[in-house]
Amino acid sequence: MRIDIVTIFPEFFSVLDVSLLGKARSSGLLDVRAHDLREWTHDRHRTVDDTPYGGGAGMVMRPEPWGEALDQLLTPNAESGLSDAVVIVPSPAGVRFTQVLARELAQERHLVFACGRYEGIDQRVMDSAAQRVRVLEVSLGDYVLNGGEVASLAMIEAIGRLIPGVIGNPASLDEESHEDGLLEYPSYTKPASWRGLDVPPVLLSGNHGAIAAWRREQQLARTRRVRPDLLSD
Ligand code: ADE
Repeated sequence: MRIDIVTIFPEFFSVLDVSLLGKARSSGLLDVRAHDLREWTHDRHRTVDDTPYGGGAGMVMRPEPWGEALDQLLTPNAESGLSDAVVIVPSPAGVRFTQVLARELAQERHLVFACGRYEGIDQRVMDSAAQRVRVLEVSLGDYVLNGGEVASLAMIEAIGRLIPGVIGNPASLDEESHEDGLLEYPSYTKPASWRGLDVPPVLLSGNHGAIAAWRREQQLARTRRVRPDLLSD
């Protein structure tokens, strides 16, 4: 998968050299490139923002550098002549990012993350890109970050680990929280007793049926306790 990131802080993305995604990059499974939006400015001050039409606090990112950046990055596919990229714009005003969306995006060939700062990006950037490709404004949750960089990193990790070959043992993906709509069961390892706390005896029983039933019960109880919204959706 190819991932392009457009940001005024490309240095945020140096962490993608580390750990499993770092390995996926060096093995060629993931081709990730962070670009400085200011490369597509033409004035002496490399201006990317301006005051909002209609008034209000804060600054809005101007459309011109974004337009040029996307023109360059949304390269046409040799067969169709159209770009097959999906543009993802992290925003607290977007649709919720979920494991289902991560799975869907992990099937794509090319993702372009457009990281806004300040009060966001001029809406015409998204509207214009949507005439050519799929554009998704996506929120990590109901809170506000300073910009799209941290949100993009979280999404790239969630998506990247679902690409076949990135995680050594794909079975480890199957029993995680959210994969079956529930939170995952609690996990234990050795020693069987630690600081007066014992591992639940059923896990030492060797009875696979009883272990599976206990884990399912734990998933339901935990989900009911901390995320009842997942059961009612
Ligand atoms: N940018 C600012 N806040 C955000 C959020 N909650 N999710 C995604 N992108 C954001």
